[in-house]
Amino acid sequence: MKTCYWKLQGNSEDAEIFRKAGELIRQGEVVAFPTETVYGLGANGLNPEAVAKIFAAKGRPQDNPLIMHIARKEDIAQLTTGLNANAEKIMEHFMPGPLTMIVPKAPIVPDVTSAGLDTVGVRFPGNKYAQEFIRACGCPIAAPSANISGRPSPTNAQDVLEDMDGKIAAIIDGGACGVGLESTVVDTTSPIPTICRPGGVTYEMLTEALGAMEIDPALMGDKNFKPKAPGMKYRHYAPKEPVYLLEGEAVALLPELVAKAVAQGIKIGVLCSSAMAAQLPQSPQVLLSCWGDSREQLAGDLFYLLRDFDRTKPEVILAQGVSEDGIGLAIMNRLRKAAGYQIITLEKGTLILKNGKQLPGFMIE
Ligand code: TXA
Ligand code: MG
Repeated sequence: MKTCYWKLQGNSEDAEIFRKAGELIRQGEVVAFPTETVYGLGANGLNPEAVAKIFAAKGRPQDNPLIMHIARKEDIAQLTTGLNANAEKIMEHFMPGPLTMIVPKAPIVPDVTSAGLDTVGVRFPGNKYAQEFIRACGCPIAAPSANISGRPSPTNAQDVLEDMDGKIAAIIDGGACGVGLESTVVDTTSPIPTICRPGGVTYEMLTEALGAMEIDPALMGDKNFKPKAPGMKYRHYAPKEPVYLLEGEAVALLPELVAKAVAQGIKIGVLCSSAMAAQLPQSPQVLLSCWGDSREQLAGDLFYLLRDFDRTKPEVILAQGVSEDGIGLAIMNRLRKAAGYQIITLEKGTLILKNGKQLPGFMIE
């Protein structure tokens, strides 16, 4: 299949792009589009054959439900059997925005979209291009992130092209996504609303608006809990190389560990702040992926920086952890998953790998 690539210009010519994209969607095709979180892989969420094409293009497991995207608040009514008081409050405070709400599913939503669950995720993106696209389609748009399953989500159209060229009908290029991490997923059907995936709408923001909030305990990588969001059980966001995440006081030892790797002739990838980068040994063996000063910048660049390692090809990657308040919870969730929960901490002056396994060889010698 030839994939059309359409670049939005922010002028009147964009209308024609949205018209053509809407036509493709009504014909049952898949079109990638920008949102404020990550790029989405959209199809008519009410058409099972169209939705099946999304699963095929991504290589996505069938048990992982898709989010339905709308561009007017009233469009949620046809997708659900009803909203409770918490769901109503979330709509009022956070839609449109980087949030997905899990609600009871109406029969119109096909099983392939909801992976057979009796609930459905609904999101009203804040990005104006996403809204124009959805309105041009005239139906709810089922859309996962536009990556091949297991890879970091794309936050620019070039990364979508890298994963989806030849597999989908079209890509709409609307520039870089702002938030850079996927939407916060909140289950409104539990007695206390529960964060199943942290994102741009933070725990603190939700607590302020709703009062009590829970965080799905499975998000911390504890194998005794089954994640509420089926997608959270897969290793994800992962570069091809092994990643180790330094947390807490272990972060201060990053320069020392990098020096050890360099001394042993290892090509080492480092994901860190620019302030940390200035403290690292300079060597062609050190392959840096740096973020600027703020954690918001890190969120915006994280997936691009992770994908960059597939281009620079280090043997092993060390990532610098950040504090977990605000957007930090979402960043650390993605970093822990990228690291496959290989987390290094400092305990009583000794570095340890939290999953009980041996530290990588170069750290021990
Ligand atoms: O920011 C986003 O949410 C992006 C953009 C494109 O909107 N979409 C996205 O979709 O990240 P996806 O499919 O990559 O992730 C959806 C997550 C998965 O972890 C899935 O298991 C969970 O939401 N999810 C969807 N419907 C659910 C449901 N009914 N119950 C529990 N979890 C659900
Ligand atoms: Mg995804």
